[in-house]
Amino acid sequence: MINPEEIGELVYLRSLEVEDIDEGWLGWVNNPDTSSELTSIGENKKLTKKDLESYLENSQMPKAKMFAICLKADDTYIGNARISSIDYNHSKCSYGRFIGNVGYRGKGLGSEVLKLIQYHCFLRLNLNRVSTVVFTDNIPSIKSNEKAGMVEEGVLRQSIYHKGEFRDVISFAMTRKDFDHIYPNP
Ligand SMILES: CC(C)(COP(=O)(O)OP(=O)(O)OC[C@H]1O[C@@H](n2cnc3c(N)ncnc32)[C@H](O)[C@@H]1OP(=O)(O)O)[C@@H](O)C(=O)NCCC(=O)NCCS
Repeated sequence: MINPEEIGELVYLRSLEVEDIDEGWLGWVNNPDTSSELTSIGENKKLTKKDLESYLENSQMPKAKMFAICLKADDTYIGNARISSIDYNHSKCSYGRFIGNVGYRGKGLGSEVLKLIQYHCFLRLNLNRVSTVVFTDNIPSIKSNEKAGMVEEGVLRQSIYHKGEFRDVISFAMTRKDFDHIYPNP
């Protein structure tokens, strides 16, 4: 493993580096397989390397953090995870993730990544709440949030302007109390 920050059974998280843009990130975010599900992508335009460089630069601690998702077996970089909107006053943050390499989806890896994010937010950053929003038709993401103990809080109608239309999202969150209940001995 290369500089792991959180280690799961099959994947680990390391800090996302500018070199990762050409190693997969740029291709994935411009591929409709991934971009059609990303609530952080608004405009219907091709993202450039420069866009991602400034996105990464603006996603640093203390307000955000980006991780590369890698396979423990051979260090293959398969996607990104991001903690953002870190708010120390209210002790909360948001998270997002994608497995860009489609062949690695549906194998439990995305759910494992979510557990690592929860662990990082609650036990390392000592926050009280982690939340996310998911398009209402993104079944894999909805199922994986439910599976990892995220609690559905409601539908936000037409909340995200995404590639030319206003789309509904479901809000999911986990509190530290929920986390302690699910993982009494993390
Ligand atoms: C969403 C995403 C991170 C989930 O990760 P994943 O590794 O594919 O999901 P998992 O294998 O952990 O599956 C979680 C659950 O969803 C189910 N699932 C996965 N793909 C599915 C599909 N295409 N249709 C129906 N259910 C599906 C799995 O069966 C599993 O439920 P189960 O354990 O009850 O069987 C991943 O699919 C992805 O990156 N998608 C594109 C980008 C994206 O949507 N990001 C999230 C934006 S909110």
